[in-house]
Amino acid sequence: MEAAKLLPQADATGLVDSDRLESAVKDMYGQVADEAAEDLHFELGRVVAERLGYDPGLLDRIPERALASFAGVGHHFDLARVEEGERVLDLGSGSGTDVFCAAVLTGPGGHVTGVDFTEAQLEKARALAADGGFGHVDFTEASIEELPFADGSFDLVISNGVINLAPWKQRVFEEAARVLRPGGRFAVSDIVSGKALKERTRRDVDLWAACIAGAIPEASYEEAMERAGLRIEGRHGNDYGFMSKRAQSACSIYDVKSVSLLAVR
Ligand SMILES: C[S@@+](CC[C@H](N)C(=O)[O-])C[C@H]1O[C@@H](n2cnc3c(N)ncnc32)[C@H](O)[C@@H]1O
Repeated sequence: MEAAKLLPQADATGLVDSDRLESAVKDMYGQVADEAAEDLHFELGRVVAERLGYDPGLLDRIPERALASFAGVGHHFDLARVEEGERVLDLGSGSGTDVFCAAVLTGPGGHVTGVDFTEAQLEKARALAADGGFGHVDFTEASIEELPFADGSFDLVISNGVINLAPWKQRVFEEAARVLRPGGRFAVSDIVSGKALKERTRRDVDLWAACIAGAIPEASYEEAMERAGLRIEGRHGNDYGFMSKRAQSACSIYDVKSVSLLAVR
């Protein structure tokens, strides 16, 4: 309540219909997993990942079909600096691109867990992990607003293009901080805005599911992270753009853009 009063941007639970939004998000990203999505506001796949700065050599080592459904908005592995043997959690893991990249970097002595709430994404990622012999990877069905892990379970939490989709961002940051060990890192790429979106735009479930209407001002996003106990230590922008005219127009009005942030608990 206190957080909602002070940071209204980080808690939109009273603004959008959370159930409708959840079903729109699951529907959209179910199609992304099935590689059946049409008329999306955003691009998918290896071309986007390479433009964002992913190491092509690293991408060569992960399952191609995970990458075909890559729907991330930025690159944060430069900030995250994954080390061998680390325990990593990916919030909103989709078809698994970032989980598999992190798993290559931790090596078999580490462990990477992906969390998502879209069944088709989880099924696909699990099948790809089994086929690719990624024994130190698992995928858990859960909401990122309520993580089923004990306090301090991870060295690193990552997330790519997901938290903008959550109406209750403050809660997501609090959960990320809770499951990190003290001194653990949080590396995130996400969509933020230069100025606050109008209420009418923020209520647009379709634009919200497309990673636009859930964007909050960068300053509010960072403030919400800091309030959750995540001290920001690094940031950079990303070369990311939306495809549809409608999305591009919302982006230019509100200066919607992609950022990557590194924070330490
Ligand atoms: C834009 S996609 C990004 C997927 C992945 N990070 C990638 O880079 O390809 C967003 C993903 O977040 C998941 N998601 C959105 N909100 C979620 C929530 N509250 N809890 C769990 N997963 C969520 C969606 O199901 C979808 O797979």
